[in-house]
Amino acid sequence: MHCVRKVTDDLYWVGADDHRLALFENIHPIPRGISYNSYLLLDRKTVLFDTVDWASCRQFLENVAFLLGERQLDYLVVNHVEPDHAGSVDEILLRYPDVKIISTEKAFRLLRQFGFSVEGKTDVVKEGDVRSFGKHSVTFVEAPMVHWPEVMVTFDTTNGVLFSADAFGTFGALNGKLFNDEVDFDRDWLGEARRYYTNIVGKYGPNVQRLLKKAAGLDIKMICPLHGPVWRSDLGCYLDKYDRWSRYEPEERGILIVYASMYGDTESAAEALAAKLVEKGIRNVEMFDVSGTHVSYLISETFRLSHLVLASVTYNMGIYPPMHNYLMDMRALNLQNRTVAIVENGSWACAAGRLIRSFLEEKMKNMKVLDEKVSLRSAMTEKNVLEMDALADKLARSVRDSAQRG
Ligand code: FEO
Repeated sequence: MHCVRKVTDDLYWVGADDHRLALFENIHPIPRGISYNSYLLLDRKTVLFDTVDWASCRQFLENVAFLLGERQLDYLVVNHVEPDHAGSVDEILLRYPDVKIISTEKAFRLLRQFGFSVEGKTDVVKEGDVRSFGKHSVTFVEAPMVHWPEVMVTFDTTNGVLFSADAFGTFGALNGKLFNDEVDFDRDWLGEARRYYTNIVGKYGPNVQRLLKKAAGLDIKMICPLHGPVWRSDLGCYLDKYDRWSRYEPEERGILIVYASMYGDTESAAEALAAKLVEKGIRNVEMFDVSGTHVSYLISETFRLSHLVLASVTYNMGIYPPMHNYLMDMRALNLQNRTVAIVENGSWACAAGRLIRSFLEEKMKNMKVLDEKVSLRSAMTEKNVLEMDALADKLARSVRDSAQRG
């Protein structure tokens, strides 16, 4: 059964939800599913903007066939070649053999690498090129590394619709609600949008900044991303989030405590620190067990909050492996500009604090590590309580100072 939505005059959503995929990119949990968005323009020419993941191909093909009726497909615009969007290109080529593919030179190279038979069907475009399909004309804007090198976005100059590729996308299936004003985005979607951005695109903040600068020169009325809701109102709010995330600036003053604990003593210390911080008036405190929380959630929260406490046991004289993995992910995603406090533990050769500190200071950018720390040798002692009081004081002051600066 076809399932389409009208986006605006002449333009239709022909994508599909995927509720069955457990891990996006075989890494990130997506408990609320994901949508693969594709759009069909029915002008004098018919134009498809991107395809969908192979897993949702059947639904997608039904949608396209339903809207085309007896018409042929004239053009396929490929903004992004990653297989969650280009996975069904071959099926489109089989069913609509006269279709012309419009994309960048790099995209065609990748399409060939993936084994797609594009010979004789290519229309190579670059930044600023224009194509007219009848009433609608589009121009192309290169957006390399948002989040692959071949990416472009397409702007319909007739009606102000931006086909934004992965930019402004989010995890989460649409479940029939296509537009941002059909959902409570802040309540139901922002967390997954942040987790999507920070884990998928987070590394490429400078490239996102370049795209935002180009976008500022366009009269954008609507944003059609490749995942998640279409934006037709309050565009500025979401653009602001992207601006902040891509500058690696925290959204909120607050403290994220991530702990690594084998037998409960470090966990207990983390709990005690959280309680002290709340007593001192810092209510925006979140706490996660690094062993029981998928790292994509930790990354998302780390981008959200201004301060971070890393509480870790020592393991094989190194950093506890899940904590080390979290640090490696933070570095890989280019996270920076945070204030960090350390709580370490080690019953017989405590090294976690020193190693975490040197990782933050030597392998990451603009990470301010507080000198105050708590150093446990198994369970908390009276001396540790004094250390923790000093650390809580320092953290609370730092959060308040950052609020005044902000
Ligand atoms: Fe949604 Fe970069 O693919």
